Order: sequence, then structure tokens, then C-alpha cells
Amino acid sequence: SPIHDYFFDKTAFDSRDGAYIHLQQPNTPEAPLNVPEMLTPDKVDGDDIYYTLTAQTGSTQLLTGAVTQTWGYNGSLLGPTVLFETGKTYHITLKNALNEVTTFHWHGLNIVGPYDDGGPHAPVYPGGERKITFTVDQPSATLWLHPHPCPETARQVWNGLAAMVLIKDDHERSLNLPADWGKNDIPVIMQDRTYYDNQLNYQKSYDVDGTLGEYPLINGTLNPYFEVTSPIVRLRFLDGSNRREWRLHFSDNHPFTQISSDGGLLPQPVEFDHLMLTTAERADVLVNFSDYQEGDVVTLQTDDLSFLTFKIGKFDPEDLNLPETLATIPDLTPDDPEPTFHTVMSGMDDEVRLDGKLFDMQRIDTRQELNKVALWEVTNTNDMDDGMIHPFHVHGCQFQVLKRDGHDVYANEHGWKDTIGVNPGETVLIKIQFTKPGVFMYHCHILEHEDTGMMAQIEIYDPKHPVKYHLLSMDEM
Ligand code: C2O
Ligand code: CU
Ligand code: CU
Repeated sequence: SPIHDYFFDKTAFDSRDGAYIHLQQPNTPEAPLNVPEMLTPDKVDGDDIYYTLTAQTGSTQLLTGAVTQTWGYNGSLLGPTVLFETGKTYHITLKNALNEVTTFHWHGLNIVGPYDDGGPHAPVYPGGERKITFTVDQPSATLWLHPHPCPETARQVWNGLAAMVLIKDDHERSLNLPADWGKNDIPVIMQDRTYYDNQLNYQKSYDVDGTLGEYPLINGTLNPYFEVTSPIVRLRFLDGSNRREWRLHFSDNHPFTQISSDGGLLPQPVEFDHLMLTTAERADVLVNFSDYQEGDVVTLQTDDLSFLTFKIGKFDPEDLNLPETLATIPDLTPDDPEPTFHTVMSGMDDEVRLDGKLFDMQRIDTRQELNKVALWEVTNTNDMDDGMIHPFHVHGCQFQVLKRDGHDVYANEHGWKDTIGVNPGETVLIKIQFTKPGVFMYHCHILEHEDTGMMAQIEIYDPKHPVKYHLLSMDEM
């Protein structure tokens, strides 16, 4: 039977500071859910695939009346879905048609840092471009692409820069999961925005503790609906918000089955009727709509606010038949049985710190040897009274979550993760291995906390091949 828990510290969630903005229903007519199409390769040459992505400005008809000035990749808002296949090599040209510097960060992708990874050391200046090449060597997963210039990440995402990234592989295909993009395999990029005379205004909306918007914006659609024409639909949830946690459930508490987390398939499917995601987290779920009749309507809600309507169409009901084991997650033995690194997220508002410090682009905060398997303790020291959840993210790898305050992790945390919500007062134990060298960021993924400086960097070194990195300073951004 489904799990009825959101898996989070409810007291902390419900005692958020007074600046919390509850979502409202937009009073715009309903619109079909936008499903960003797959990015078309410039060229395919055997196992080598060539893509181009351009960060640009544009305008989008979101509200009634004036169009909204927005930013996007290869379009006016968000971007095309970028498809990778495990084992193939990608050659990507990253172009900047904006009036300011940006970067292209591959959130969740195991590629070398700090340049290919697209963190703050990989600027693409206005009118310029950068070419990167990498071979995808990780399993099927739902990842994403977003800008990462320091300290302008939050505003650039708010303006519209973000895209979903899919990795596919043979193992996942052998499971015969729904894979018809836009029909039974659907992205659900969850964001929230406020409009002033139909325009975004980051400065006006800004909150140092994480900017919240008044209205849901789902895949860049206001007030969206989706016509269900298949009994079983895969929803790929991505919390692409600057700050907002999404507490997901259907209006009738219809159950759904989570099949994957940030870095790929879960070892076992987990059935829920409630699920919370913090910023940057992903969860793929299967929903079996077979219990409904043609003409029925059910909505997805967060905080009891409906943000995505499903209109049930015509299809033949089916049973959800999933194997008991979806994936085998290797149980790597740590090189040291004790935690070798302890990192602390503290504070709120402009007092946020990581290990008591603010980010410095030219400081390496910690080092770890390539391929070593390490235990890290990640603590959120905010106390219960005015604490908040900090979503902790590490670049360049996927990790495993072992314990929360010494207790078992939640039922959907047995797979690969790259972002983990850490509750106030909690310490999370993770097992982490980097298989790519480089300098990588680790930080709170509330984008305003990251921009304030709740971020640090780790150097992954190969003793046999020492590398000297050129670390930019903020002035070069
Ligand atoms: Cu999703 Cu450092 O970022
Ligand atoms: Cu990242
Ligand atoms: Cu934070």
C-alpha cells in the first residue's frame, strides 16, 4: 500500500519565515502543457553527436495581453530537451547571445570540472562561445541544464534559463517503461514566478532567503492541462524553482510509483500518494490512470493548490507491471570506514554560510582523490524554531545517502542522488566517489543562498596526473 508521508520535517516546513509566498491560481485561461521538444543534433557521425545551445532573450505569451520578456536556450523560454545516450560522445557548442556572461552547467552529469561541467569557472561571454566534448558513462536518468555564473545564477534561472536533460540506456529500455515523449513520458518542470505588468522583475521579487513566485509555471506554461491518452504515464518531476519545495499529491490522493531519483532508476519502485521535492531534485514517477473514466479530471497539487490538470481521454486500462528490481546500485566499500569530511550549512538570510565561510572562487576548500570512496557528513545547523531545509548539491558525481541522523533514509533515497534536502538540525551521511578529475562546486541549491556564497569547491586529484587549474576570480565573470 502507498506511503502517506512527505518525508520531511513538517515542523520546519510549516514554521517558515513570514516572507513565505503561498502559490495562487493564475486567472489566465487554461493552456495545454508545453512539452519541450528534443534538441535536434547538428550532425550525427556514428557514436559522435553534435549539438548547439544558445542562451538568448525572447518574448513569450504567458498572460493575457502583453507578452513577457523571457530568456531561454534556442528559444524564448526554458529550452529543448537534451537527449544523451550512455556510451556516446557529445560535442556541444555553447553560445551566448545575451548581453551578459553566462555558463552552461550540466547538473547531475559525471563530467570533468571545472570547465566542461559549466560551473562559474566556465564563462561564456556575450557574443562568445565554448566547445565541450564528453562521453556519457552513467545510467539512464533525468538531469538538467542551468546557468551558473557567480553570483548571478538565481536571476538568470528566474528569467527563464533551464532545460531538462535525459540520459537513456539499454538497461532502461529493457524494462519497457513508457517512452513516448509528450504522450506517456512527460517532463514536469516546476517553477514559480510573479509578474509586474506582465513582466518578470527579479529585483522586485527578490528574497535573500530564496525568491518565491506567486504563480506556478510548469514547463513554461501558466495554468496547464494535459490530455491523458495512455493508461500509464511517466512524469519526470524537476524542481526548477529558485527556492520553493513542492509537496506533490493528486487532488484525490491517487497513488503513484516513484521509479527513479536524481541519478537514475531506484533499486525498487516505491509507491506513494505524497512526495516532496526540494530545489533541483528530480523524481520520475509512473501514474496509472486506468481507474478513471473518459471525461474525468484530476489535478496535481502542492500545498492544496492545483497546478496541473489531467483530463482523462480514451485508452484501454492496463495493470502496472514493474519488476521488483529496477536497477542494481553498487555497494561500494569506503576507503576509510569513518567520515573523512564534515560540511556544515548554517544560517538564513544574508547570514548563510558553508563551513562558516562565504564562497571564494580562488580557494580550494577540500580535496579528494579520484575514484576514492569517501563518507561525508552534511549538517544543517539551523535549529527548529526558525530553521529551514537546505538542499545540498555536489557537482561532478552521484552519491548515495546512507543515514539521516543515524536513522534509515527515506524509502525513495536508496538510489543515486546529487541533491539532498537536509532538515534543520539534521546530519546526513553520504557515500561519495568522484570518477572524473577537476574542481567542482558543492553548495546549497536555494539559488539565492548559492549566490550569497553558501558554496565551496572541492578538487578531485589524480596523484599520477597532477593538474594546475586556472581558477577565475569573480571580477573575471
Ligand atoms: Cu544545479 Cu551548482 O548546480
Ligand atoms: Cu550541479
Ligand atoms: Cu540554503
